[in-house]
Amino acid sequence: MNLSIVILAAGLGKRMKSDTPKVLHEALGKSMLQHVIDAVKPLKPSKIVIVVGNGADKVKQATAGDGVSFVLQKELLGTGDAVAAAKSELSKGITLILNGDGPLITTKTLKSFFTRHKRNKNTLSVLSFIDESLSGYGRVFRDEKGGVVSIVEDKHASESERRKFIELNGGIYLIDTEALSHLDGIKRNSSSGEYYLTDLVELIAGDGKKVDAYNCPPEDIRGVNSRDDLYQVSDILRKRIISKWLDSGVTFIDPNTAVIHPSVRIGTDTIIYPNTYLEGSTSIGKNCVIYPGTRINNSSLGDNVIVKDSTLIEESKIAQGATIGPFAHLRPLSNIGRNAKVGNFVEIKKSTLGEGAKASHLSYLGDAKIGSNVNIGAGTITCNYDGKNKFITEIESGVFIGSDSQLVAPVRIGKGAYVGAGSTITKNVPSDALAISRTRQDNLEGWAKKKRKIVKNKKGK
Ligand code: UD1
Ligand code: CA
Repeated sequence: MNLSIVILAAGLGKRMKSDTPKVLHEALGKSMLQHVIDAVKPLKPSKIVIVVGNGADKVKQATAGDGVSFVLQKELLGTGDAVAAAKSELSKGITLILNGDGPLITTKTLKSFFTRHKRNKNTLSVLSFIDESLSGYGRVFRDEKGGVVSIVEDKHASESERRKFIELNGGIYLIDTEALSHLDGIKRNSSSGEYYLTDLVELIAGDGKKVDAYNCPPEDIRGVNSRDDLYQVSDILRKRIISKWLDSGVTFIDPNTAVIHPSVRIGTDTIIYPNTYLEGSTSIGKNCVIYPGTRINNSSLGDNVIVKDSTLIEESKIAQGATIGPFAHLRPLSNIGRNAKVGNFVEIKKSTLGEGAKASHLSYLGDAKIGSNVNIGAGTITCNYDGKNKFITEIESGVFIGSDSQLVAPVRIGKGAYVGAGSTITKNVPSDALAISRTRQDNLEGWAKKKRKIVKNKKGK
């Protein structure tokens, strides 16, 4: 059966009080609209049409290239008008309509909704839910026999109707594409001035066609209208993701404070301490330990990696067995070799650290190619920038850089060489050489003792 999909994303989202279109607000690093797109894609639709209006350019820019097309709703005259704008783009068959502000919908719920719609040969099906704590949703009105007759917005329902009809409209519909001709029959609501998509229910049921509503878990269709809703929805999503990783063998010391984005992967027996953020397309190997206060963004960690407290890792790769932190900062394009060590207060940018190499304390390593088993002494700085251009520092394997050295790039330290502590290296160092560049030390015997004597005599006068 040919399936078309319409996602309504033109609304203003006034209650968000934001310059960003509502559907682009993010839940766990991904826009609400993208959550909806990702949930419908596995249904293999022939097309996904997004109705844009408010902030159309921003919405298009954020989702273009994801196999979706756009139609512009010129004036925001309500959900009925929004679907009408998309109608000519839809193919014969079934159309799935969703609100773009319901990011919790799952593929699983949509699949079973689809199965029920087809099995019962409905013309229109509504995905509904029951949650008596919520207000502001449309209400599904049923007759004595239980047949769905209409959907009435909360604000237009009377007190007694609200008590009687507790089934709420989730804003997700399956409809025989041809029945969208009934959109023409929707009248503008006299109090709000909008065309309500939900009026299709009354029109199609009144035409003697089969309409029904199916309950799904209330969690799946929580809509977002305010920042408070966005927080609630993000928290539900966060808990879902953590539960999935707990089930697959990951330990969380405190699941309440870990934030794991949807496309992150984590290997078994990894232990995650509180206040950890794993973002974007990050992947973590098996048997890793991530200590508290760490944020890892779009990076990959091999097995048995240890990340100590308060560390930031961005767009970098860390091979198995390496140790990073505490208080380390790996900036984009850092590549840390097997069993390497990046210690306290070390910043690395666009650099490679070879297998077993160590930079244990207080360093800046930028645009550096560092070989295996190199020892970078405390306080070493690569001077990679002359105010205009960046230059490369090459440190070949087995090199020992003494503490507090500056390596002024471009410069190369040959294999197995030594750099004496406190040196400023401006010229290449041959393999196996010792480079030392600091003034020689003079010891003036008895100087301090004499000085003390002079001071004492002055005071005595
Ligand atoms: C809508 C339903 C309500 C349901 C709820 C579920 C109607 C009349 N009401 O109410 O029954 O319980 O969703 O979340 O449909 N939009 C447009 N163009 C417009 C207006 C809205 O594209 O002119 C889009 C919005 O961007 C949003 C979606 O449609 O993604 C829903 O609009 P919204 O105003 O949030 O509807 P609700 O009042 O929540
Ligand atoms: Ca809404």
